Amino acid sequence: MSDDEQPLNLPIVGPANADPSEGSRWGESTRAVHGPRPGPPPQEPLGLPTYRTSAFRFDTAQDYADVLADRKPGYSYSRIDNPTADAFALGLATLEAHGLDHAVAAQPFASGMAAISTVMLTLCSAGRHVVAPAAVYGGTYGVLTHVLERFGVSATFVDGTDVDAVRDAIRPETALVWAETIANPTTAVADLPALADVCRAAGVPLAVDSTFASPVVCRPLEWGADLVVHSATKYLGGHSDVTGGAVVGDVDLVGRIRKTRLDLGGMLAPDEAFLLHRGLATLPVRVARHCATALAVAEAVAGHPSVERIDYPGLGSHPQHELAGKLFDAGPEGPRYGAILTITPRGGRAQGMALCDRLRVAAVATSLGGVHTVVSHVASTTHRQLDDAALATAGIGASSVRFSIGLEDADDLVRDIVGALDALS
Ligand SMILES: Cc1ncc(COP(=O)(O)O)c(C=O)c1O
Repeated sequence: MSDDEQPLNLPIVGPANADPSEGSRWGESTRAVHGPRPGPPPQEPLGLPTYRTSAFRFDTAQDYADVLADRKPGYSYSRIDNPTADAFALGLATLEAHGLDHAVAAQPFASGMAAISTVMLTLCSAGRHVVAPAAVYGGTYGVLTHVLERFGVSATFVDGTDVDAVRDAIRPETALVWAETIANPTTAVADLPALADVCRAAGVPLAVDSTFASPVVCRPLEWGADLVVHSATKYLGGHSDVTGGAVVGDVDLVGRIRKTRLDLGGMLAPDEAFLLHRGLATLPVRVARHCATALAVAEAVAGHPSVERIDYPGLGSHPQHELAGKLFDAGPEGPRYGAILTITPRGGRAQGMALCDRLRVAAVATSLGGVHTVVSHVASTTHRQLDDAALATAGIGASSVRFSIGLEDADDLVRDIVGALDALS
């Protein structure tokens, strides 16, 4: 290349007087707003581009009308749809739908609660009814009791592991049965195929909050659920730096849920979608390691003299250990039973809080599913509304501490937790 020849890929703007295009005659502010942009790259970007835009520009007014009316594919407004958010939803769908012989659809949301409330507001109307587990996540309980109840929707809460109780609670007006793959903080495992049979016989959709499992541990659609819901804030993001949610499942139902989302506005933002999509790429590797470490910790802590009880589906003592073995995946690294475990030390509330305070590797923090091991004293945090009697009914001890096992070295975590338990005795 001679010195005066410019490389092909150097961005060049011609001199204003020599450039005959209309753009060259525009004033300073117009040029500032409408600066030239490169066209779509001829090579597909390996990383996911973030479409950090709230609006999309159309060639014609007719195109705009057609896309808005869903007559033509495309994007108009990022509260409605956004390519980065769709990439995350599709990525999750491909993990959740593995092994299915039918198509599924997916929708992204601003949070797990946005996903849950939008599902419920789509399927329920005045006079209808929902069956949900008594130990359901507090936010879900809040939507059913504080919100939907005001609009004439009732709910019956039953033991989520008791399939007969779920069957008995279904009424002609039941619009939805809700389940959680792994319950918080008891780690009770739902019998998804049996619940799906009950729901199918009653003609009622089954929606499963699978936040604690992630599709790497269990895929509820494979076991007959109609919808699977996630707080993507947890394992899908995986680094405690993003809030999001998602719904995957039956194409017709998810289409209706999308319509409700457009009206309610709980849409995932593009930057958050980028992080969640990136999280999916390492989800299998992360979750496999989370699970292996959690099993090692559970086994190391199980016989400790300060421990009254430990709840973890990977232990033979767990009431649904066998069911978990059937529903949950295994990988080359071993079985996957999730990475949430609840340790109930001997003693009352003070012992639970003391256990939390003595930990050095594990952090006292809310949320779960991230790279850091985090703990919460259940009775004073996630289940603070329950007194000791109500806690006992729900199978939770006053001293119970929920652990979300992170990606630290198992040996360090075992030393940290066993050391804290030693100090309690
Ligand atoms: C099981 C479960 N479902 C739903 C949610 C709500 O998710 P988000 O906080 O992303 O709204 C949470 C949050 O902790 C959860 O643990």
